[in-house]
Amino acid sequence: MKTFKDYYNNEVTFSFADHPFSDDPKHVWVICCWQGKWLLTNHKDRGLEFPGGKVEQGETPLEAAKREVMEETGATVKEISYIGQYIVKGKSDTVIKNVYYAIIDRIEKQNDYFETNGPVILNTLPENIKEHRKFSFIMKDDVLTNSLEYISNYFGKQ
Ligand code: GTP
Repeated sequence: MKTFKDYYNNEVTFSFADHPFSDDPKHVWVICCWQGKWLLTNHKDRGLEFPGGKVEQGETPLEAAKREVMEETGATVKEISYIGQYIVKGKSDTVIKNVYYAIIDRIEKQNDYFETNGPVILNTLPENIKEHRKFSFIMKDDVLTNSLEYISNYFGKQ
């Protein structure tokens, strides 16, 4: 279990354990890999980030993860693995999010990418992501660094 501050100075606790904060989290985040590259989305307000969002009524978090990837990038998930879960203690609310690693099968053009401008493919993620204005705040805390380290160790991606 690791606790740190996010970009907005909110306290975040991240764990690789199996659903340590909630069996029924309401948010998901999906680190996507397509042909050895990273697949992100360009959120209209927040900027570049891995796809994700809220779990809808009647949906499991895993279903939400696949849906969000499709909606925000047009990508179909081939394989998806749970990586961990984190809790953000915000000023007014608390958010609990599952993090997944997904291997993408194919990316198809969509007419609508919901609240994003659609897929963005990057060969590598910049070292100094925290200073990049075009990246979303959700890419700017240790959830990303911890998750990438795990993916590198267990799945062999950079
Ligand atoms: P909408 O209800 O969709 O408009 O979004 P919202 O931003 O009002 O609510 P949400 O429940 O998604 O998030 C509430 C707050 O939690 C955000 O304003 C952030 O401060 C924080 N938060 C949500 N997701 C993350 C995340 O992945 N990382 C971090 N560090 N904070 C997050």
